[in-house]
Amino acid sequence: AATAFELDADFEVEYHDELASTNATARDRASEGAENVVVVAERQTGGRGRLDRDWESPDGGVYASLVVRPDLPPAHAPVYTLAAAVAVADAARDAGVDAGIKWPNDVQVDGRKLAGILTEMEGEADRVSWLVVGIGANANVDPADLPRGTSIESEVGPVTRREFLASIVDRFAELTDDVESIVPAWRERAVTLGQQVRVETPRETIEGEAIDVEFPGTLLVETDDGVRRVTAGDCEHLRP
Ligand code: BTN
Repeated sequence: AATAFELDADFEVEYHDELASTNATARDRASEGAENVVVVAERQTGGRGRLDRDWESPDGGVYASLVVRPDLPPAHAPVYTLAAAVAVADAARDAGVDAGIKWPNDVQVDGRKLAGILTEMEGEADRVSWLVVGIGANANVDPADLPRGTSIESEVGPVTRREFLASIVDRFAELTDDVESIVPAWRERAVTLGQQVRVETPRETIEGEAIDVEFPGTLLVETDDGVRRVTAGDCEHLRP
C-alpha cells in the first residue's frame, strides 16, 4: 500500500483504503519484526473492540494501530493503553472538544463514547516483545451512525483526519518517552475518579467509589468490604 502521508513523530505510516482490521494487519507486521509503524485504514470491514466485541467502523472515523516494542515487563503494558487514551483525549481537546477518559481507556464527551483503544501484546516472561495499540476514533462520523456515541464533527465540526491522527501519534510518542508521566496525565483527564462505579471483571462484579488509578492502570474501588484493586474489566458509572 502507498504511504499517503507522513507524521512528525518517528513512526512510519502504512496506509490502506480498506482492511478487515488495522490491529490484525499490525499484528502481522509485528510478527515480521516491525517497530514504530502505524497501520491506518480508511475503512474496516471487521473492526474489533475490547471484550470480543465488534467495532463498527463507519465512514469518517480514524482507524489506526501502532506497532511498538517498549522495554517493559508484560505486567506494565496497560500503561501504554492509558497513554493512547490520553493522546486521543488531548487531540480532541486541541480540536475544541471537552473529552474525558472513562477507566480504563474510553474517551468520552458527556458520557458518549468518542474513541476506544484495543491493545494486543506478545511477551516473554520478563519483557514485552511487541504491542499493537489500536485506536478507533469517531472523527468525522455522522451521529446517525453512532447511537450511543459522539464524534468530533458532531461536537464542533469536522477535523482533518490526518492532522488529528498525527497529533494523537505525536502525543503518544511524547508520553511513552516518559512512562512515569502517563498515569498523572491520565488522572487529570479522568471522568471516573470520584464516581460510583460498577466494574465487571472476568471473575466478579465490584461496586463502590472509584478513588484512584495507580501505575500501570490499576483502578482502586472503595467498596463496603474495603479497597479493591482492579486491573481489567468493564466499568459503568452509576448515577445516584
Ligand atoms: C473498544 O472496544 O473500545 C476498543 C475499540 C478499538 C477499535 C480500533 S479501530 C482500529 C483498531 N483495529 C481494530 O480492529 N480495532 C482497533
